[in-house]
Amino acid sequence: MSDKTGRTRDKRIRTGSIALRIALGSAFFLLLAFFVIDVAVILIEAWPELKAGFGGRTNGLPGPEAVQNWFTACRDVFLTRRFDLLLKVEGVVILVKLVMDLLRVRNQLKPLDEIAQAAMDLSNIDVATDERFARLENAIDELSPAEEGAVLSTGDAELEGLEGAVNKMIGRMRDAYKQQARFVSDASHELRTPIAVIKGYADMLDRWGKEDEAILEESIAAIKTESDNMQHLVEQLLFLARGDSGRTPVEKADFSLTDMMKEVCSESSMIDETHTYRLDAEEGVTAYGDVSLLKQTARILIENAKKYSPENTEIVLAVKQKDGRPCFSVEDSGIGMDSEAQAHIFERFYRADDSRARSSGGTGLGLAIAKWIVDRHGGRFEVLSRKDIGTRISVIL
Ligand SMILES: Nc1ncnc2c1ncn2[C@@H]1O[C@H](COP(=O)(O)OP(=O)(O)OP(=O)(O)O)[C@@H](O)[C@H]1O
Ligand SMILES: [Mg+2]
Repeated sequence: MSDKTGRTRDKRIRTGSIALRIALGSAFFLLLAFFVIDVAVILIEAWPELKAGFGGRTNGLPGPEAVQNWFTACRDVFLTRRFDLLLKVEGVVILVKLVMDLLRVRNQLKPLDEIAQAAMDLSNIDVATDERFARLENAIDELSPAEEGAVLSTGDAELEGLEGAVNKMIGRMRDAYKQQARFVSDASHELRTPIAVIKGYADMLDRWGKEDEAILEESIAAIKTESDNMQHLVEQLLFLARGDSGRTPVEKADFSLTDMMKEVCSESSMIDETHTYRLDAEEGVTAYGDVSLLKQTARILIENAKKYSPENTEIVLAVKQKDGRPCFSVEDSGIGMDSEAQAHIFERFYRADDSRARSSGGTGLGLAIAKWIVDRHGGRFEVLSRKDIGTRISVIL
């Protein structure tokens, strides 16, 4: 209790002395201004008498008698004129100003005072013995972060803010944990399918393949395809796992985006003879980033355009400056997507049309990888797609 009174007194002394000093300072300047004005007014009014006091001499040096007369005249003027009245009025004005300044300054200093008070309160808390901290510690000990809906709560109103912040952090950790768990479960599920297929064909080979040439060929082809799919999936999983744990180096440098798209375009036309590739390139577009990762992004987009558009259609690659930012895009005239699908395509393992994507060897990780890369470059995607018309996905760096 006495501690509290002591703290309040400290507080008053602090604000009081600063406010008083400021108020006195401004009152002093007001007093000075009044004084100068008074002297000027009185001198102007009493000019004829002063002149007489000078003994009528207004030019040339006055003699000792004239100076004596002048002093007497001045004294008379100051004592008899309305000096008294002026003094009273000015006194009241200065007093009012002093009080107003004092209140205003104290008001303005209030937040500072509260901060000082809070800091003092904090420094007075002994964490080892303070009951509230002990309660908080117990509540944290009892909290099980994995338990859905469990929150930190001590019931102490003063700790509400702190509890809110901790609970928000736990919520975010829980979301990240759930995301990670879902990723592991999806990955295991995806790996189970090719393993089951390979095992099925191996069993078939074992039973009938030794004699039957047709079964032998079918099984070998299927095992090859499935192991390729599995290898592709494992590589994608490794990329994302390394990325999540910060082990994928991103080596940025200035490079020609135009040249990068030219290379990707000629490489795609060479590999894929079922589509025609056209490059719509603005010359001299440069970017700052990891050229091999951005090339991988372009390849992922091209792979999708190829996979989700019919044979003998055109795929247009473009590179340009968009609103002063380097941008590249891949456009196809394929199956397209509705807006519901567009909202999810960057999620891990998402496939807009599960059966169709699965049959084309899609795992739903390509765009998640592309997003990871583009995020590391502070860039963004723009998706324009219509069902059965086509898709254009642009990357703006
Ligand atoms: N150009 C496109 N046209 C139509 N649908 C597309 C296109 N690009 C992506 N999609 C849809 O978005 C989904 C996610 O694409 P993403 O590249 O991430 O996975 P994927 O192609 O299925 O598999 P992979 O991991 O092998 O790339 C696809 O399954 C497909 O449904
Ligand atoms: Mg893909």
